[in-house]
Amino acid sequence: MEALKGVRILDMSHVQAGPTCSQLLAWMGAEVIKFENPAGDATRGQLRDVPNADSLYFTMLNCNKRSITVNMKTAEGKQVFVDLLKKCDIVMENFGPGVLDRFGFSWERIRELNPKIVMGSIKGFGSSGPYADFKAYENVAQAMGGAMSTTGVPDGPPFVTGAQIGDTGTGLHLAIGLLAALRQRDRTGKGQYVEVAMMDGIMNLCRVKFRDHQRLTRGPLPEYSVPTYQGIGDVPRAGNDSGGGQLGNAIHCKPHGANDWLYVVVQEAVWGALAKRIGREVGMPDMASDPRLASIADRRNNQQLMWTLLNKFAEKYTKRELMAILNPLEVPCGPVMGTEDLTHDEHVRGRDMWVELDHPQRGKWWNVGMPIKLSDSPARIERSPLLGEHTEEILKDVLGYEEAKIASLKNAGAFSVPPKKAA
Ligand SMILES: CC(C)(COP(=O)(O)OP(=O)(O)OC[C@H]1O[C@@H](n2cnc3c(N)ncnc32)[C@H](O)[C@@H]1OP(=O)(O)O)[C@@H](O)C(=O)NCCC(=O)NCCS
Repeated sequence: MEALKGVRILDMSHVQAGPTCSQLLAWMGAEVIKFENPAGDATRGQLRDVPNADSLYFTMLNCNKRSITVNMKTAEGKQVFVDLLKKCDIVMENFGPGVLDRFGFSWERIRELNPKIVMGSIKGFGSSGPYADFKAYENVAQAMGGAMSTTGVPDGPPFVTGAQIGDTGTGLHLAIGLLAALRQRDRTGKGQYVEVAMMDGIMNLCRVKFRDHQRLTRGPLPEYSVPTYQGIGDVPRAGNDSGGGQLGNAIHCKPHGANDWLYVVVQEAVWGALAKRIGREVGMPDMASDPRLASIADRRNNQQLMWTLLNKFAEKYTKRELMAILNPLEVPCGPVMGTEDLTHDEHVRGRDMWVELDHPQRGKWWNVGMPIKLSDSPARIERSPLLGEHTEEILKDVLGYEEAKIASLKNAGAFSVPPKKAA
């Protein structure tokens, strides 16, 4: 039995933030109807690697969904939407501000049509406040939610992070909200509106940076390897400093290529054993008790010395060799793994996190697997749908429409892109 079996989702979402949420819910067993603009989710055609095939951008975010195309700019299309709304538990969208209102479907209207439905909305900045009318993409949210100003090296420009915390991160937040609202709906019989703003989601993911922001009013941050300000001020960019109670940093290893780094956390409990091991090789046999490094406070004050010594030690070893030295000492550490490393990694494959699929247009391709493992409901990953692949099937199975009704709706343009007006 799949965890969300019986939950039907009308998924109007597009690009990444919404689809990432509905894909996860589908992998947990929900039935997801991807309700698409007849022109298709824009990502179908973005960054194409195979001519005339749905892009990986689309296929990797829309697995286990069925696709129906409906033109919401026709009265007939709107009627199909209303009929589906009445048959679904969740409706979700991440259009730009005002799009659904322009269709005539505000939350108030949707609730009137189906009081039991839970509605999920992702917006860049939510539905209220001075930024409410702005559109947003990943990096806009990273810029505005605090991620960019705290990422990078102190004397360099702000950086975005590679992890899609603005889009996928917001999708995760929405999934949590939808499941909570569904649970309440099951108790009370009443749906509700779940809104997640990308900027809010980023702030949530940057929570510990706001911890540091307030600590700055009491004094500098001793765990940073660069000077920090005192008084109210921005939390500085910390490079690869751990930013936590334990000191950590990336150590460059042989042969010193782009990803030849091992991230090492010099946990307080392992200092003695670590210092003994590396001290021997870097000409500091008494490293563990050296007054500059003996206590965690000393190591915080002399971090650069500690990292210099660790880097010196690492010169002779690859990241994997260094990891093999540190693991028996119980030093928390991990090699920087490139995408090529990861897609061939035995551990990753063993956990079904790199999954091969087939697709009628592109043939074999790979998707990142389901990161949430339910013991009794393992995810079964199936390919993404072609544009409108299930239009008829959904109209018949979910809505019970007869052939004649489908044909007349089709003639009225309910499922297709409106013809271009003659010039
Ligand atoms: C991502 C984003 C910037 C894209 O902007 P965009 O390409 O201009 O798309 P919008 O969502 O604003 O608009 C979609 C358009 O498609 C039309 N459309 C969507 N579904 C349709 C359908 N089924 N039938 C007919 N038209 C449809 C809408 O009516 C709208 O056109 P309009 O402006 O004439 O009303 C914007 O959707 C956004 O800010 N979303 C919220 C934040 C977000 O999720 N961002 C991250 C994306 S990963």
